[in-house]
Amino acid sequence: MALFNRQLCLESRPMGVPSEDNIRLRCTSLCRPGPGQVLIQNLYLSMDPAIRGWMSEKPSYMAPIELGEPVRGSTLGRVVESAHPDFQIGDIAFGLACNAWEDFSLTPAEQLVRIPANPPFPLSYYLSIFSPVGLTPYFGVLDIAKAKPGDTMLISAAAGAVGSLAGQIARIAGCRTVGLVGSDEKCSWIVDELGFDGAINYRSCTDLTSAIAEACPEGVDSYFDNVGGEVLDAALLNMNNFGRIVFCGAIAQYNNEDAVPGPFNYWQILARSLTVRGYMAPEFEGRFAEAREALGRWMSEGRLVFAEEVVDGLENTVEAFSRLFSGANKGKLMVKLRDISEPPPTIDQIREAVAQELSHA
Ligand SMILES: NC(=O)c1ccc[n+]([C@@H]2O[C@H](COP(=O)([O-])OP(=O)(O)OC[C@H]3O[C@@H](n4cnc5c(N)ncnc54)[C@H](OP(=O)(O)O)[C@@H]3O)[C@@H](O)[C@H]2O)c1
Repeated sequence: MALFNRQLCLESRPMGVPSEDNIRLRCTSLCRPGPGQVLIQNLYLSMDPAIRGWMSEKPSYMAPIELGEPVRGSTLGRVVESAHPDFQIGDIAFGLACNAWEDFSLTPAEQLVRIPANPPFPLSYYLSIFSPVGLTPYFGVLDIAKAKPGDTMLISAAAGAVGSLAGQIARIAGCRTVGLVGSDEKCSWIVDELGFDGAINYRSCTDLTSAIAEACPEGVDSYFDNVGGEVLDAALLNMNNFGRIVFCGAIAQYNNEDAVPGPFNYWQILARSLTVRGYMAPEFEGRFAEAREALGRWMSEGRLVFAEEVVDGLENTVEAFSRLFSGANKGKLMVKLRDISEPPPTIDQIREAVAQELSHA
């Protein structure tokens, strides 16, 4: 029995920041779950910079999204039909990088994680702070930067989802934290609300290397890099000997089509005996429970602020995604498709509703 689904599909490979010229809304048919599959109605989409990489054909840790296919992403939704014994209608579950920007996702059960009934935190947190957004800074700060009391940690994209948590986790570990952000308003926010010790607006700075030196008078012991590019070059010139660079992301170059030069100060890695380590959260899968427990406890104790920015509506997704690259977001950016309080549809209701929408198109 065919059903219908609104999907945002990749029509062309973006040159620069993706726009609605590249990603189009389509109404497509949907099949009932086959054996082992679960049909979820998505409630939240996670806006992740990595998705930009999957839109291009460049080699990455995941295959490119094929043209004409819905944009791959991580979503949280409720089960509306299940062909797997572990998932019942009404369960809430999330899938990481296995679903798409769409109303309904048909997902193999083994790729979904069910959320316990009556969760103590808002539902969206399970797709954000308890997913790679929180797990990545947890392991990056504690295991890769090896944060310890008295260290100075510099963090780029420090008002973003990962960076805002990285700075706070480093503070909890006893570090002095300095964040690099793209506006004065973000500088005030990370210092006044998140407890960073210092902040630099890298966009208004004429000499970023000197600004970092001034904000970090004892040098930088670890640099949590979300950005790459010129910011990384300036950080390299401020690293202490035997410092650690946590290579978490390189958002400054995700929209570049040409070869990216540099880092020009690469030689400093040798001159200062630095360790540079790239990583992704799944490396630490065996310790996710530990990280989720710590993140939840720190939030409950008021030691960790988790900020979300939620945009409503599938039709606003492409514009929302572009905010990651203009710096218009603060904290974790999500798209909310519908509220959990909306009664879940039956399969027959879904079909009827979408058929009506099509007849009006
Ligand atoms: N390794 C992993 O497993 C892993 C997991 C999740 C995320 N990441 C990476 O972590 C980084 C942050 O991701 P997120 O989800 O937390 O996004 P985010 O920080 O919430 O949003 C992106 C922020 O990056 C800054 N930015 C954008 N373009 C920039 C540029 N050209 N130069 C400098 N800053 C720029 C903007 O803030 P400003 O206003 O400050 O410019 C923007 O708000 C990304 O590189 C992402 O790929 C890695």
